[in-house]
Amino acid sequence: MSQPPAPEHFGRSAVRRVERGFDSVFGARLNPLRHLGSLGFLFFWIIAISGIYLYAVLDTSASGAYRSIDELSRKQWYLGGLLRSVHRYAADALVLVMIGHLIREWLFGHFRGFRRFSWLTGVPLLLFVFACGIGGFWLNWDQLGQFSAMATAEWLDGLPLFASPLARNFLSAAAVSDRLFSLFVFIHLGLPLLLLFGLWFHIQRISLADVFPPRALAVAATATLFVLAALKPVLSHPAADLSQVPATLAIDWIVLFVHPLMYATSSGFIWGILVGVLFFLLLLPFLPQTRVIPVAKVDPDNCNGCRRCFDDCPYAAVTMVPHPNRRLARQMAQVDADLCASCGICVGACPSSTPFRSVAELVAGIDLPHSPISRLRQQLQAALASPDSDRKIVVFGCDHGASVEALRDHGVAVFSLVCTGMLPPSFVEYALRDGASGVLVSGCRAGGCEFRLGQQWTEARLLGVREPHLRAAVPRDCIQMVWADAGDDAALRVALSTLRRRIAAFDGPVPLVEPA
Ligand code: HEM
Ligand code: SF4
Ligand code: SF4
Repeated sequence: MSQPPAPEHFGRSAVRRVERGFDSVFGARLNPLRHLGSLGFLFFWIIAISGIYLYAVLDTSASGAYRSIDELSRKQWYLGGLLRSVHRYAADALVLVMIGHLIREWLFGHFRGFRRFSWLTGVPLLLFVFACGIGGFWLNWDQLGQFSAMATAEWLDGLPLFASPLARNFLSAAAVSDRLFSLFVFIHLGLPLLLLFGLWFHIQRISLADVFPPRALAVAATATLFVLAALKPVLSHPAADLSQVPATLAIDWIVLFVHPLMYATSSGFIWGILVGVLFFLLLLPFLPQTRVIPVAKVDPDNCNGCRRCFDDCPYAAVTMVPHPNRRLARQMAQVDADLCASCGICVGACPSSTPFRSVAELVAGIDLPHSPISRLRQQLQAALASPDSDRKIVVFGCDHGASVEALRDHGVAVFSLVCTGMLPPSFVEYALRDGASGVLVSGCRAGGCEFRLGQQWTEARLLGVREPHLRAAVPRDCIQMVWADAGDDAALRVALSTLRRRIAAFDGPVPLVEPA
């Protein structure tokens, strides 16, 4: 039916293995590895809310800052102290989920073509998050904050950026003026605002971005931060003292690892690593692409302007424009080639993709030129007409999920689509009407769809809660859905056996259902 997807390389299958391991603990829907971006947003908001409280009590003078924060932990441990700890742990969590999110997207190869924008706008977020996190330690103005501020100044002095070395600002207590401390406050308040703007920009080219994790996951993640904060409250080190070098420090290795690394190497080494990593990340999306897949194409004569493709496209690649033939419809879909992922989810949404149309050549309002929906109808008709078995099971699968090919035998006809979201529900009804004994629909696990929303929309359409919906008259006993990632072939086989048993138990012949 479609072109084969990029081969599963080691990194991709390793991520899938890890994700499957987590699935068995959390379930696919609540697996944190499938919601790293939205967890990042959650931690950002927790940091912002707890930060507002901390700012209200912070004495922003160099001499008063230490006392105002230290007393918060000691005298008001049940509220201010708790929020201070949550603030710190949420910052650590944000760094961890951000790095996890980056590694996941990288190993899945999600940095090219239509994803280039998301990738390139993600890279500056790395810098913002670390800069916000490191700057936060300075505001306590304890020995850890002193160490971090000093190390950052020495690192910046590694480049000939400033006329006089920044580290001179930390030679004596008198040198750390209120003005310098106001700069610390400004950095720690200004950068998060830039980060928020960067986050908004990052998800601009994504429809219905997953910016809030499922409620149970959000509650569990927030509760974990509070439990950690209660069990191991964050306390200040002794007050900063520029006449001494701090002796023992409890380093936050997640945010501040870069300082000990610099002292173990050199500031030049850290600059080299930073420039090298940024260069690599920014170069990745521009590496030559081996496969260029044609994007979705609209046929004005078959587009009635219903906007379903506009609503369902996961990458906001569809816009609605005035229809060239106003007698047919007021609006028509238009595809932005730069944004289109060639996923076919719009084809599954389009009312004109129904196989019941009496036209000899099925032309959809929107279609994938390399894998048109008419071909699926032809192949389905041919498979159900073949004499080797009169009651086949039809399997509609997805190129990116578990391979449906292994299920092919004389009693099973298989069709693998670019994304399971390309399947118009009417094809399920059509297959049953044309003689299939049952239909198995498979795709990636919840949260694992290669094109973000294909699995979700397919499930909703087949359950009848999203347009185009599967008609209520279609016998549900003859239909099975299974969500299985690449490599999870066992789940497919189990689902097929379940469907076979259900069909056998189904009372009487499959009723003929009339087309919509
Ligand atoms: C604070 C840090 C970050 C947060 C909170 C964040 C959040 C998100 C969110 C919510 C999405 C949409 C997910 C969805 O709805 O499917 C997303 C997508 C994406 N992010 Fe991030 N992100 C961050 C950093 C990064 C970084 C550092 C990179 C890589 C350099 C990156 C690369 C991507 C890519 C490629 C996508 C598109 C995924 C797809 O199309 O399937 N992000 N991010
Ligand atoms: S193929 Fe996918 S990305 Fe392209 S327009 Fe259709 S739904 Fe949008
Ligand atoms: S779903 Fe089909 S008919 Fe509706 S606007 Fe899109 S292309 Fe046109």
